[in-house]
Amino acid sequence: MKMPKDFLFGAASASYQVEGAWNEDGKGLSNWDVFSKIPGKTFENTNGDVAVDHYHRYKEDIALMAEMGLESYRFSISWPRVFPNGTGEVNEKGLEFYNNLIDECLKHDIVPFVTLYHWDLPQALEEKGGWKNKETVDAFVRFADTCFQSFGDRVNHWITFNEAVIFCSLGYLTGAHPPGIEGDVKGYFQTTHNVFVAHARAVELFKQNGHTGEIGITHVFNPAFSIDDAEENKFAEMHANAYATHWFYDPILKGEYPEYVVNGLNEQGLLPEMTEEELDVLKRTAPMNDFIGLNYYSPQRVMKNDSALVMAGGRENSTGRPGNPSFDGVYKTVKMDDKVYTKWDWEISPEAFLDGMHMLKDRYGDVKIYITENGLGDVDPIVDGEIMDTPRIEYIEGHLRAVKHAVQQGINVAGYYAWSAIDLLSWLNGYKKQYGFIYVDHNNGLARKKKQSFHWYKEIIATRAEDL
Ligand code: BG6
Repeated sequence: MKMPKDFLFGAASASYQVEGAWNEDGKGLSNWDVFSKIPGKTFENTNGDVAVDHYHRYKEDIALMAEMGLESYRFSISWPRVFPNGTGEVNEKGLEFYNNLIDECLKHDIVPFVTLYHWDLPQALEEKGGWKNKETVDAFVRFADTCFQSFGDRVNHWITFNEAVIFCSLGYLTGAHPPGIEGDVKGYFQTTHNVFVAHARAVELFKQNGHTGEIGITHVFNPAFSIDDAEENKFAEMHANAYATHWFYDPILKGEYPEYVVNGLNEQGLLPEMTEEELDVLKRTAPMNDFIGLNYYSPQRVMKNDSALVMAGGRENSTGRPGNPSFDGVYKTVKMDDKVYTKWDWEISPEAFLDGMHMLKDRYGDVKIYITENGLGDVDPIVDGEIMDTPRIEYIEGHLRAVKHAVQQGINVAGYYAWSAIDLLSWLNGYKKQYGFIYVDHNNGLARKKKQSFHWYKEIIATRAEDL
């Protein structure tokens, strides 16, 4: 079977991870500009000041994507480039950059898929309490509105937020991301709620103002599976899915929070402060979501937690990497002997991906799905000057096959975006952990080079994955 004609084969990036030009053309400071410069916060103290210089080289990059046959490019807009202080005056130069980037995509018949928020919050807002402060919600809605008005004539695909679970949990539970706060469980749940409300209000505005095109949100998709059939571990699985999936997907797709989590949080005095008005906007906008975006890298294998409650810092510890108790100590994630893992200990399982999509269909029905991220972080081997990223090809092949099966089994998947289009800055792993189809040579003026996977993906797109 060939993938349907309107299925989008794409690849993704995020502003902070590729653009650089951190202080050019009137851009304001982001929380990451500040956080990454605190010694010890990132791998080898890397930061996005230059990143892979996409800001200046976007034409070359888009031309390479076009050569690969990419049908769609998912990128994010740096909020402080558009509003240097988060609110107030618009920076026209910031709008100009994204106008040019969008036009360049369209020139090459590449569908722009825009993420409004991929973690680079204006520092001015971070200093006023960031996502804990409901004024950030108002500021986001204004930023979203400005983007809809400025780019909506050419952009038909909008993602409000990328992975609320990551920037909220790493920001407030482990402290690995800005604002670097550890152990503020109540703050963590409050920020998730504020983000859901910001999403809902942006969706409502988008629809009310008659913009055409689709709007949705992207969540981490990290389905939990018990390591065995023991009742206590099955309970761990249910609990993990409730807190890591339902808490995030229910308010968006069902318009209400899962009762199990609400009751649990209530008992512990952790329920976020929510107004009737906020709950109403979640409720009435749920049916307006056009799709849900899934970022899938690995599942979690869980069992009852019997060890001391220590939540280690670090990005890997909170999502992919097994071996840590959940924030509430109820379960822990484990590494299993019969599973396969990446160099960063993220399990590789296309099977769990497909099973997980069925779990979503069971709970949320026929909602349209875009796979907005999926890929392999690796240290790519260079053989005679060629980047031989065979493991990446195998990873993507397995997961694309799972997507194809999902479509054949009646799951409404409308597109697949590999992470990432081009090698970029990993928030906490520097440039060592590569994901791209396009290699960036940091020892040679950031020169671009096509990887083995570049040619492979080109063939997949050209044949619409018929032979997978
Ligand atoms: C996702 C993010 O969580 O994972 C990306 O949306 C990120 O921005 C990707 O780069 C891979 O994570 P890491 O830590 O391996 O770079």
